[in-house]
Amino acid sequence: MSAVTVEATSAAIHVSALHKYFGENEVLKGIDFQVDAGQVVCVIGPSGSGKSTLLRCVNRLEEPTSGQILVEGIDITDPETDLDKVRARIGMVFQQFNLFPHMTVLQNLCIAQRTAKRRSKAEAVEVARANLAKVGLAEKESAYPAHLSGGQQQRVAIARALSMDPDMMLFDEPTSALDPELVGDVLAIMKQLAAEGMTMMVVTHEMGFAREVGDKLVFMDGGVIVEEGDPREVLADPKHDRTKAFLSKVL
Ligand SMILES: Nc1ncnc2c1ncn2[C@@H]1O[C@H](COP(=O)(O)OP(=O)(O)OP(=O)(O)O)[C@@H](O)[C@H]1O
Ligand SMILES: [Mg+2]
Repeated sequence: MSAVTVEATSAAIHVSALHKYFGENEVLKGIDFQVDAGQVVCVIGPSGSGKSTLLRCVNRLEEPTSGQILVEGIDITDPETDLDKVRARIGMVFQQFNLFPHMTVLQNLCIAQRTAKRRSKAEAVEVARANLAKVGLAEKESAYPAHLSGGQQQRVAIARALSMDPDMMLFDEPTSALDPELVGDVLAIMKQLAAEGMTMMVVTHEMGFAREVGDKLVFMDGGVIVEEGDPREVLADPKHDRTKAFLSKVL
C-alpha cells in the first residue's frame, strides 16, 4: 500500500508496510491494517509472532524500522511529529499493571494527569474518582496496590489510562497474568468501554471476548498478518492452515 487515501487517514490507526528489526531479526515483516474509530480489533497469534511489538510501534514505544503509522491521520513515524501529543491520545494497558507500589490508588491515577495534562489537584482527583467508580473500585482509592487483587490492580490500571481522556486504548494481554476467576471482571470493564464506543486494539488469548466484543480479529504468525476478518467467521471457519493449527491449540 503506497498512497494514503482520504478514507485511510480517517481511520483511528492506519498501519502500512510496517517493518521492524531487532538487530538482524525481522520481527514485523510488512504489516498493513487499520482500526476505524469506535472499532474493537483483537490480535491473536503464537508467542513471538510480533503482537506486542506491533502494539508498541503504534504508540512509538518501539521505533519502526520502516513503514508508516497514522494515528488519527498524524504520521507518528515522521520525525517532525510531536510524539507526546499523539501519545496523550493513546491509553495503554499491559499484562503487568505497572502501578507505583508506594502510591495509593488515587495517587496512581493522579500523577500523570498532574504532570502530562497539568491538571489541578482538585480536577485530577475528580477525574480519578469518576474513573475509579467506572471500574467499580470507588471504595479502594486509599488502598496501596499490594493490597489489591491482580484483577483490581488491572482495573486501576485501566482507570488510570482512562483518566488521561484517551481517544483509543491499546491492551497487551491485559488478563494473562490474572487468576482465572479474576479475568471476568476485567473483561467486563473492557466490554463496557467498547459499548461506549472506545476505539480499542486488544492483544488477547480470550477468544470468547474476541468473538463477543471484537469487530475484527487479526491472526499474526511470524511477523505477518496471516488472516483477518469478522471474529465469528475467523474463529468458526479459519481459511489458512496456520490459523487452523493455532486455533486448534487454543480453542
Ligand atoms: N526489545 C527487544 N529486543 C530484541 N528482540 C525483541 C525485543 N522485543 C521483542 N523481541 C523479539 O521480537 C519477536 C516478537 O516479540 P513480541 O514480544 O512482539 O511477540 P508476541 O507476539 O507479543 O509474543 P508473546 O505472545 O510471547 O507476548 C520475538 O522473537 C522477540 O524475541
Ligand atoms: Mg506479547
